[in-house]
Order: sequence, then C-alpha cells, then structure tokens
Amino acid sequence: MIRRVLVVGAGQMGAGIAQVAAEAGRDVVLVDVSEARLQGGRAQIDASLARLTKKGTLSQADAQAALARITTSVELAAGQGAELAIEAIVEEREAKRRLLAELDRLMAAPAILASNTSTLPITDLAAATGRPDRVVGMHFMNPPPVMALIEVVAGLTTSEETVRAVSDEAAAYGKTPVRVRDMAGFVSNRVLMPMLNEAVYCLMEGIADAEGIDAVMRLGMNHPLGPLALADLIGLDTCLAILEILQRELGDPKYRPCPLWRSYVQAGYLGRKSGRGFYTYAQVPPEKRARS
Ligand code: CAA
Repeated sequence: MIRRVLVVGAGQMGAGIAQVAAEAGRDVVLVDVSEARLQGGRAQIDASLARLTKKGTLSQADAQAALARITTSVELAAGQGAELAIEAIVEEREAKRRLLAELDRLMAAPAILASNTSTLPITDLAAATGRPDRVVGMHFMNPPPVMALIEVVAGLTTSEETVRAVSDEAAAYGKTPVRVRDMAGFVSNRVLMPMLNEAVYCLMEGIADAEGIDAVMRLGMNHPLGPLALADLIGLDTCLAILEILQRELGDPKYRPCPLWRSYVQAGYLGRKSGRGFYTYAQVPPEKRARS
C-alpha cells in the first residue's frame, strides 16, 4: 500500500507528478537541490490547482487538501519513509544512476524506485541499485495533471509485483497505465521525437516558418499543439537529450538530431521554461494565435 511518495526533481514534470499524487491522497515529499527550484515547483502547482478549481474539476477544499499534503525539502532524507520514490531529474544517465544508487541506500528495503525517464533503458538504471527487481519506469506525459497516460516500463529485472504496484498506483492517480518493453524511447518518444525532429528540419530548410509548420499539423492532422509548440512545452534541451539517447542506444542514424536543436539549446532557448524556444512566451502562446 503506497501512502507516502517521494518525488525528486521539482521541475515541470516533478512538480506535476507531486501534484497528481497529492490529489490522489498521497503524502508527498518533493525534493530538489535548491530552495529556488522548490519555489518554482510550488508556484507551478499553485497555478495548476487554480486552473482546475476555476473550471470546477477540483473543489477549493480538495485543492487545499492536496496542497497541504505536499512538503518540500532540499534533503533527500526527508522522503526516507516513502513506499514509492519517483525521480524526475535531468535526462542524463549518470545523474539518474547516481541518484538511484543514493535512493537505494536511503529507502526502506521494500520501497519501489521509479524513474520518469523519457528514454533511458530501465534495466541499465536498475543495475545501479541493489534492488533491480523494484526499479521500474513510470513515464508521465507533460503536463502531468492533464495527460491521461503513464507508460509503465518493465526492465529485464523488474518484478511482476513491482509492475503491478505502479500500474495500480497510476490508476489511483486517474491515469491509464500502458505497459511497454524496455527499449530506448519506449513507445511515446520512439514515435513522437522523429516527428518533432522532422519539424525542426522543415524549419531549418525553410520549408515553412514555425507558425506555418505548426498550423499544418494542428489544422491538417488535428494535433492539439503543433510540433514546434509541443517541443517548446517539453523543453528543447530535453528533446535534444532524448534524440541523442535514441541515436546512441538504437544505433540508427534516422534519430540524428537536427543541428538547429543544438544551436537553440546553446543559445539558452529552451522553450516555455526559459521564455523562448521556437516561439517567445511573453503573453499569448502561439497555439492560441488565430491562423487559418
Ligand atoms: N494544469 C491543470 N490544467 C491544465 C494545465 C495544467 N498544467 N494545462 C492545461 N490545463 C487545462 C486547461 O485548464 C484547459 O482545461 P479546459 O479545457 O477544461 O478548460 C485544458 O487543459 C486545455 O488547456 P488550454 O486551453 O490552456 O490549452 P490547450 O487547449 O492547448 O491545452 C494542452 C493544453 C492540454 C497541454 C494541449 O495543448 C495538449 O494536449 N497538448 C499536447 C500535449 C502533449 O502532447 N503532451 C505529451 C508531450 S510528450 C511527453 O510528455 C513525453 C516525453 O517524454 C517528452
């Protein structure tokens, strides 16, 4: 029975995951390396809960109760009593392996260690711990409070009991768990990232401007966001990291990241989180601008 959840990383995914778990009645400890990052996470949760209450999806009382169930800390040890730890830190193999090894030392023996990795093989992350049977992928979609899917990734060493426990947990969060095999990119990013990459190639080759490319996919394919606006939502640094991992792990040049990703990331244009990506985010988000 999972009552207490430790979420590591208070970025857009970690904060969203903490919110979703708290809404489902879990006591949540949200940990990050600095007070400033925790403050950013809390602000995101406040804004998201405010949206949900404004449209009546969540009552004021339930939103306040969810908020009260979330505590924050810069110390990993604050989450020691949790039955489930979900890491949502930067998409880097070494950083995630280091963190999982530390969690393995810290958490009670039966605790499950889940990774929100978008691409990295779970079997490799699990091997950094002494409990590879209790390491699993729990891949939330962005924004976690809105998106209905959690990809549940079973590594080679993950036990059936662990897969079942996190699938039940996903269902308790009101999400649909879909079990996938442990292969870089799983299903979501194996399919999504080549499309986003191709959109960036279209931009680089001047086939259309950003708004044109996005309009084709929104109006022509009924996508809620165009691929470039979606890349801005996910984070251009995250997209680049995912493509690099796909290329490295699967060894196929078809995943070669468009060079424009790198230039944008080098310039600090990371998407919505930095205020600029393929679009700028002063007031009106690009998908809200009329275009026929
Ligand atoms: N918290 C709470 N509610 C939110 C929210 C948030 N963070 N963001 C949006 N919403 C709600 C809004 O309140 C609104 O609710 P109503 O329709 O009931 O009024 C609804 O969601 C739609 O929001 P908006 O009108 O502001 O904007 P939108 O219509 O463009 O929807 C969106 C926003 C849901 C994000 C939509 O654009 C969308 O579905 N985009 C695609 C998202 C997507 O593909 N995510 C997957 C990314 S890939 C990934 O995450 C995996 C990876 O590893 C990279």
